[in-house]
Amino acid sequence: MNRDEILKAGKIASEVKSWIRPKVKKGAPLLELAEMIEKKIRDLKGGIAFPVNLSINEYAAHYTPSHDDDSSAHGLLKVDFGVEVGGWIADNSFSTDLEDSSLNKRLIKSTEEALENAEHVLSNDTSLGKIGEKIEETIKSHGFNVVANLSGHSMEQYDLHAGVTVPNVNNNSQAKIGEGLYAIEPFATDGKGLIHEGKKGNIFILQKDKNTRDSLGREILEFIKDNYGSLPFASRWIVREFGTRAILSLNHLENEGILYQYPVLTEEKGKFVAQSENTFLIEKGKVINTSK
Ligand code: CO
Repeated sequence: MNRDEILKAGKIASEVKSWIRPKVKKGAPLLELAEMIEKKIRDLKGGIAFPVNLSINEYAAHYTPSHDDDSSAHGLLKVDFGVEVGGWIADNSFSTDLEDSSLNKRLIKSTEEALENAEHVLSNDTSLGKIGEKIEETIKSHGFNVVANLSGHSMEQYDLHAGVTVPNVNNNSQAKIGEGLYAIEPFATDGKGLIHEGKKGNIFILQKDKNTRDSLGREILEFIKDNYGSLPFASRWIVREFGTRAILSLNHLENEGILYQYPVLTEEKGKFVAQSENTFLIEKGKVINTSK
């Protein structure tokens, strides 16, 4: 692990977060917001670890605007973005209420508190079940349910979702979290807490590198390998490079199983979802919230 790069990525994430927060207003085009955040990350000399996720209301995660997206910010908006430096990632998110809704505000507060309470019990010695328990009890104390099938995750260099899952409920796991780099991300909902895979969200990842007959497809595949490797990317980034003719090739690559397009994680009954997330470096019993 490269401690300096981990901390630098976290610092950039934190700076971008305070910079964008006041700019997230109702009616702001999602496409503009995503591109502002991504540009700011680059201006601060970070790499974009994955496309900015802008997920509204019942969308919990994995929506990024398409190249011609005409939707605008409203409702309960989750802003989730990642910064990488040398492949070391800071994954973080915040939720904001754009409707002056007390339900939205309470949902958001429950995940912010859950994340803080998880941080309070966090050390290399803490069991995964204990972290989940803290998150679950905090969210329930606000009268909401945890989205149980979404969870935090360990991270390795250029690997956003490495081996360890950090639960948002008490799964009774006695396994210690141990040293390493972790994203902890509680999700709360006024629904039952089940998420299903909805429509496609314009976020792709290279799944299986193999030959394709389409010559533009081959060109795009090379570009993806050179620029994103094992990290997710947005269809609009490909359109920016190759024009709108790239859309058809992206579809082919997806159908051939070379690319995978993430579905939007959606609350099954259309109930609302809030999320808070930070990245934590645990080393020798010390915990640093890198993206605070
Ligand atoms: Co995450």
